Amino acid sequence: MDLQLVGKTALITGSTKGIGRKIAECLASEGVRIIINGRNQEEVAQVAQTIADRYLVETVAAPFDLANPKERMDLFALAPDIDILVNNAAIFEEKPIFKLLGTDLMRYLQVNSLAAAALSQFYLPKLLKKNKDGRIIFIASEAAIQPPKDMAHYAATKAYNLSFAKSLAMETKGSSVTVNTVMPGPTYTEGIAEMLHNVLPDVHENLRESTYMRENRPSSSIQRFIRPEEIGQFVTFVASPMAGAFSGEALRMDGGMVPTIF
Ligand SMILES: NC(=O)c1ccc[n+]([C@@H]2O[C@H](COP(=O)([O-])OP(=O)(O)OC[C@H]3O[C@@H](n4cnc5c(N)ncnc54)[C@H](OP(=O)(O)O)[C@@H]3O)[C@@H](O)[C@H]2O)c1
Repeated sequence: MDLQLVGKTALITGSTKGIGRKIAECLASEGVRIIINGRNQEEVAQVAQTIADRYLVETVAAPFDLANPKERMDLFALAPDIDILVNNAAIFEEKPIFKLLGTDLMRYLQVNSLAAAALSQFYLPKLLKKNKDGRIIFIASEAAIQPPKDMAHYAATKAYNLSFAKSLAMETKGSSVTVNTVMPGPTYTEGIAEMLHNVLPDVHENLRESTYMRENRPSSSIQRFIRPEEIGQFVTFVASPMAGAFSGEALRMDGGMVPTIF
């Protein structure tokens, strides 16, 4: 299928590792110019160079902390004109609800919710003015609709993404621009490998994933972690002009974890 993405420009926040990096690679493989973002300057530059070399596309290094309003302004100055925004950057960890401090709640809100909202407020009017299949995609989580007990601070920020994206989508009426949310379930990133090692230190490496899924994620139908490239490919499709009929959708990709039809 020709996804008609050649020559477009995509900003993927938090694209130095994990899901964001795979989204960047999948888009690059379709001929998209890529803006790489993360907080570590060296890492951002290195990932941007690797993707440019591997996929023969132009890349731009955008090493900014998106929770910081001043650094967001620097990003807007560097990349004022894009076609696709993927709001992927986020932080997460398990912490019991009564141990959460006000500062924890604020930090999660700033990184996971408010930064994505601010970027969308900046880019959506420009995408609408251009009216050429512009895309905003929020990477939320199945936790937005099935909040885990020890991740209240995280899950609430992902519910914010869902709600904000839906309101933004209403602003696109009559245009070729769309705003959608993708909700991945548990996905195997470097951080997850480390977490499995810590949670199941006595289980053999080869059995950790299946043991964890059986004991900690029993409602998953696929009983494995999703691979970041699976999400990368799906997001690439949603980012393409071929997916123009998805608007204001919350697109689940959770391996069957959420046991409801909608
Ligand atoms: N992994 C899962 O199981 C899973 C499941 C459902 C949903 N998700 C969602 O998928 C997305 C990606 O998750 P992941 O597992 O791939 O995460 P990850 O491996 O931890 O990567 C997060 C990325 O965001 C960047 N980042 C963090 N804070 C930032 C900030 N303030 N400004 C700019 N960049 C920042 C990180 O780079 P620096 O730290 O160097 O800045 C990194 O590039 C997140 O929205 C997450 O909530 C993940």
